Amino acid sequence: MTGRRSLSTGRRHSGGNGAACPVTALTGPAGARTEGVASSADAVPELARPDGAEPAGAAPGTARLARAARRRDRRVYWRAHPFLFALLAATRGRPFRRIGRTVLVHDPDAYREVLTRLPLDRTAPGTTGGAARSALGAKGPGDAGVLFDQEGGEHRAVRRGLARGLGTAGIEELRELWRPLFADRLEPLSSGGTVDVVALARELSGTVVCALLDSPASPRAVAAAAAEVAAASVRSELPGPPRPGATAAVARATTRLRQLLGGEGDDALSAMVAVAAVNTTVAALPRAAAWCADAALWEQASDDTLRRSLVGELLRVTAASPLLPRVAAADGAVGGCPVRAGDRVLLVARHAVGAHRDDPDALHPAPAGVARLVFGAGPHTCPGAALARALLEDLLAAMAPYRPAVVRAEVDRRAALPGWRTLTVRAGVRR
Ligand code: HEM
Repeated sequence: MTGRRSLSTGRRHSGGNGAACPVTALTGPAGARTEGVASSADAVPELARPDGAEPAGAAPGTARLARAARRRDRRVYWRAHPFLFALLAATRGRPFRRIGRTVLVHDPDAYREVLTRLPLDRTAPGTTGGAARSALGAKGPGDAGVLFDQEGGEHRAVRRGLARGLGTAGIEELRELWRPLFADRLEPLSSGGTVDVVALARELSGTVVCALLDSPASPRAVAAAAAEVAAASVRSELPGPPRPGATAAVARATTRLRQLLGGEGDDALSAMVAVAAVNTTVAALPRAAAWCADAALWEQASDDTLRRSLVGELLRVTAASPLLPRVAAADGAVGGCPVRAGDRVLLVARHAVGAHRDDPDALHPAPAGVARLVFGAGPHTCPGAALARALLEDLLAAMAPYRPAVVRAEVDRRAALPGWRTLTVRAGVRR
């Protein structure tokens, strides 16, 4: 296994000591830049180890399998978001980059600093809060809001309301629902059949959401509707001229989701919880399962002690929510570099946690303080993190006895988050 170097040091900005500020303005329009960098990022493949050698003590072929796993996973970025991925890869050599009024943040300490110390405009267009607010029909004062767009006491009160279902006791109750689902849906693997892990993740996320929101709706229908809200919202927020019908498509998708959830769930906040839970789960779990299969990590997944560490590592390298768009609400500084009110700050979670560089290593995991950055940081840190970990832990435990291999994987180009549209697996030979 690879030795891990510190992810949070060595590239720090030296602040007010006279060193040059690493927030360096790139010249020219961002579009022209992205064209230019695509090939250079392509030409630098991400390897399991920079020297391509087998990690010390690893079984023969480990490095080759690790490369195969990484290569497959990168397809979810390249196929769906090639220019954005190329831009992010090309700019990651420095902790921060300024392109006009946009600051790209790749460094873990700066990433954390933005989320915990920099005043952020939670409702600005193009941010997660702004998009969630407009997509889900939250009307502002008088409406409960949708967490991402809230602050202070109101925000804390809403989070307290969610805490029961997403805390330890709530997760144990939810386990009673999803464990039989795993056993049933994975059963075809025992007789040589195949299973689509994405279909399973959709049903699973819908089941969890319906239980959390006490909704009698069909889990699959809820998952489909929540995916459509996020996909339509992303399309309507794309840069460039307004797309005819995009706003109406978001409104239709939202109405459908809110109606489906019905009863207690017929409000913007419940719809947001559904969108947040479904889209991350459907992106994260199949990507993690594919990585586990391709890198032959099922031995670790079946080990009750190592599995938890493996889960943290797989969530880190897949960084399901790889980019957090935020806007500064006031002048401030990140790593000692000035940020002005109104600047867009793009937090690159994938790079902050070293997902582009360090393979998952359950024996030498990344420091918890770094790995958990995939769930954000500070007052808005993901309240579903423990649930997501429990879901993946149980999915891997249920799959491990079959030692599944991936037989088919198709990228979902419409989804809001990079992920698979189908991921078909079959039991492997080492059962
Ligand atoms: C692998 C799975 C997941 C990942 C990677 C993920 C990631 C994130 C991230 C990065 C944020 C923003 C945090 C910040 O701004 O500091 C967030 C917020 C949120 N997530 Fe998750 N999430 C996942 C699963 C879930 C699940 C299963 C739920 C279920 C309820 C959930 C509910 C939420 C909610 C409600 C927020 C808004 C919190 C706030 O603004 O106060 N997430 N998530």
